[in-house]
Amino acid sequence: MWREVARLDDIVPGGTKYVRIDDEEVCLCNYEGTVYAIGRRCGHRNAALERGTLEGWIITCPAHFAQFDIRSGKNLSPAIDRHSGAKESPAARVKRPEERRQLADVHDLATFPARVTDEGAIEVEVKE
Ligand code: FES
Repeated sequence: MWREVARLDDIVPGGTKYVRIDDEEVCLCNYEGTVYAIGRRCGHRNAALERGTLEGWIITCPAHFAQFDIRSGKNLSPAIDRHSGAKESPAARVKRPEERRQLADVHDLATFPARVTDEGAIEVEVKE
């Protein structure tokens, strides 16, 4: 079932918007007038992806910078330990295997069919 959730005018090209559809949290992404709908919560630790950065088809999480393809929801790169900095040696990072495992543990995002009507409404298909 297609549901109108926003207007194309609500999202500038390269922008994102959070919408809630029943129990589903969805992040709308405007790539040059084509709208993609992905799960709002990052596949790492659930940060809100509409607060991230959209460049082309790639959205970057604002928390630890994991990246996802908005067309498929696929995770493209792992999370980054923002506290490690350039001063930490590789040997020091190896000493924290549990933390390294957590950073690498990033799941793909859900995706939802989305379309823009001739009247400029953004519709997302959701299961009933
Ligand atoms: S919550 Fe998104 S990369 Fe950690």
